Amino acid sequence: MQVDRIWTNARLATMAGPGLGIVEAGLVACSDGRIVYAGPAASAPALTAVTVTDCAGRWITPGLIDCHTHLVHAGNRAREFEQRLAGASYEEIARAGGGIVSTMRATRAASEDQLVAEALPRLDALLGEGVTTVEIKSGYGLDAPTEIRMLRAARRLARERGVTVRTTFLGAHALPPEFAGNPDGYIAFLCNDLIPHVAAEGLADAVDGFCEGIGFTPAQIERVFAAARQHGLPVKLHAEQLSNLGGAALAARFGALSADHLEHLDETGVAAMAAAGTVATLLPGAFYFTRETTPPPVGALRAAGVPIALATDCNPGSAPLTSLLLAMNMGATLFRLTVEECLLGVSRNAARALGLEAEVGTLEVGKRCDLAIWDIGQPAELVCRIGANALHARVWSGQ
Ligand code: NIG
Ligand code: FE
Repeated sequence: MQVDRIWTNARLATMAGPGLGIVEAGLVACSDGRIVYAGPAASAPALTAVTVTDCAGRWITPGLIDCHTHLVHAGNRAREFEQRLAGASYEEIARAGGGIVSTMRATRAASEDQLVAEALPRLDALLGEGVTTVEIKSGYGLDAPTEIRMLRAARRLARERGVTVRTTFLGAHALPPEFAGNPDGYIAFLCNDLIPHVAAEGLADAVDGFCEGIGFTPAQIERVFAAARQHGLPVKLHAEQLSNLGGAALAARFGALSADHLEHLDETGVAAMAAAGTVATLLPGAFYFTRETTPPPVGALRAAGVPIALATDCNPGSAPLTSLLLAMNMGATLFRLTVEECLLGVSRNAARALGLEAEVGTLEVGKRCDLAIWDIGQPAELVCRIGANALHARVWSGQ
């Protein structure tokens, strides 16, 4: 068989199971940007390729997937970081007009070019660690022009770099000042104007919300989800981060791709997610940075068979984090996830949290040839080390 590229002499963690799907003496072959073989070299068909890369025993994993980020935004909130060091809480700062709304002001003032320029170094930091797919949310515009500009900037990032970008509309992130005292009016605006517009322009691949005391109530989120469904968009939700409002169960009722954060998730929520096949996306960077003390119920999620994903939540307020490797380390140390759970959380399960399980997330025939090639002796090193980057090479779509 004639193919475009072959990587030989590699050890594979295919993530296709069982466990990490480990293959010693493995080989990956690619044609037209797709994997045409991934497995033991000894069982591969006879192959000829234009380019053959000898991996010299290095490990190959699927390209990593960061399935929850707020990568596109303007400015930073280092000042609030100092306020929190002096004792203010994340919620207090938000209620005093800081938090999401302070990033909203900076983002509204930024052009699309500026948003792209500010996001690129953050994106490059992720790509430098082997990320090949990234989700990017809106939610710092909270008005029509800025929400649309954020989503366009996110789409543009995919043309600036070799990376797959999935965009998520997060209009229901915080209440903008124009609607002070009128959250239901803002929700009506999202449902009747902005979601139809974003859907018609093909700007978003999913719809998200922030279900929280400082965000929106379950009843308000339900209206957003109904509008998303009407326009054929899947949903996901920031749920149970600071308190338990039953957001995860609501999301599950709408067949959500994922419910995210989940520190205060209860058994009812776990059961609803398990029944709906909703992925639990855990964000240990936000847990760490806000000095949250209640970890998500990992044991209950595990016991119920809920797939667990891990992401950076990269944002200027609760997680100024651009390292998915560090997110894995925190998932293990802070949440006691196993190495296998961490690695599946940034590959196969992260793909599922984006509805991309048929496309990416494992080394399997037919999937996009997104690879991360690592200078390591064993996969656990990717989770164990802090501040190290063992990436040798990154391949997106066979390139
Ligand atoms: O995922 N929880 C709400 N949204 C973000 C934080 C946004 C911000 O503080 O700017 C999160 O943690
Ligand atoms: Fe978030």
